[in-house]
Amino acid sequence: MTDLSDIRRRFPGLADGWSRFDGPAGTQPVDVSIDAVAEWQRSGNNANSHGAFPAAEACDALTARVSATMGELLGADPGGMVFGPSTTANMMALTRAIGSDLGPGDEIVCTALDHDSNVTPWVLAAGDSGATVRMAGMDPESGRLPVDAVVDLIGPRTRWVAVTGSSNAVGTIPDTTAIAGAAHAVGARVVVDGVHLTPHRRVDIGAIGCDVFTTSSYKWYGPHAGIMWVEPTLLDSLHAYRVRPSPATGPGRLQYGTPSWEALAGIDAAAGFLLETGMERIIAHEAATFDRLLTGLLDLPGVRVVGPRDAANRAPTLMFLVEGRSPLEVARELAVAEVAVWDGHNYAVEAMVPLGLDAEEGAVRAGVCVYMGDDDVDRLLAAVAAL
Ligand SMILES: Cc1ncc(COP(=O)(O)O)c(C=O)c1O
Repeated sequence: MTDLSDIRRRFPGLADGWSRFDGPAGTQPVDVSIDAVAEWQRSGNNANSHGAFPAAEACDALTARVSATMGELLGADPGGMVFGPSTTANMMALTRAIGSDLGPGDEIVCTALDHDSNVTPWVLAAGDSGATVRMAGMDPESGRLPVDAVVDLIGPRTRWVAVTGSSNAVGTIPDTTAIAGAAHAVGARVVVDGVHLTPHRRVDIGAIGCDVFTTSSYKWYGPHAGIMWVEPTLLDSLHAYRVRPSPATGPGRLQYGTPSWEALAGIDAAAGFLLETGMERIIAHEAATFDRLLTGLLDLPGVRVVGPRDAANRAPTLMFLVEGRSPLEVARELAVAEVAVWDGHNYAVEAMVPLGLDAEEGAVRAGVCVYMGDDDVDRLLAAVAAL
């Protein structure tokens, strides 16, 4: 069964009837995740971990449960799940730890397709340590990141490769498995930013072969939080910046202070929602909706679809421009029709100029997710056509 047309009911935030193409910046939470957050806060279990009374034990049990669920969702060892406030915060913690091990002559490869949370933390760590960041370019025509653009920069001095699992600007999905293989061949480690990939593909960290994988649950119908999987041996070997009483081993090394237990409860429920719904069903539903959006925009006079003009190997996210209107003007006009889209670079700052866009103004971004359907697409297309 692939029909998800009824699923909208499970998202109370959609009750106002708006068409929410802003999912790449944050989705509406699903009912079970909202309930799990509230239930946790009502439960009396708001305590802390490693204590000698039931509420404290409940915090430990919650951590074990959500780590196991995330392990199932991402195909990874649950022992590597680090929970933090956001992916950006997690990346700052990770790169600060890595940076203390880097020095002049060491190289980090980043890419132009990435969200800045997988670029600037590396640039800062390199600046502190004297290491060098090398930027892999993207293909301006296709909006894709060729494997060779990254692999050509990997050499004996490469220590880390940081690459996106999917572009949050134009949705393209680089071959991270091939990139991870090339990095490991020279002894380098690999971080995959999986924030935009996780809601739209079945992730298998084991198959990708990366050392670190990041995701943010508010992009897949859960609460605002970031989850970073770090291969457990690597996790224990990092020179983490940590306070003295924090755990000497395991995810607590990179978790700063008490985690948001209520967020953990919500993450567990949201990940459970993805698993129960089934990624194959989600992919099929989103592909059909995205196809209608992409072909509809390609058919509209005065509209330029930015990046790939096909739906192959990409998340259901695109950017477009309307002749004679700035992206912000388009977003404002669409808001009048109760269609939510983002304008600008959406933090994919390095990708804008290669895509032929103004670095700041960027383009209009529209993303399809599980609760978007044909009616939403038709409303967007009609609103754009009316401009
Ligand atoms: C691809 C990608 N990576 C990283 C991030 C940063 O996530 P967070 O807001 O959790 O720091 C985002 C957020 O938009 C994103 O789309």
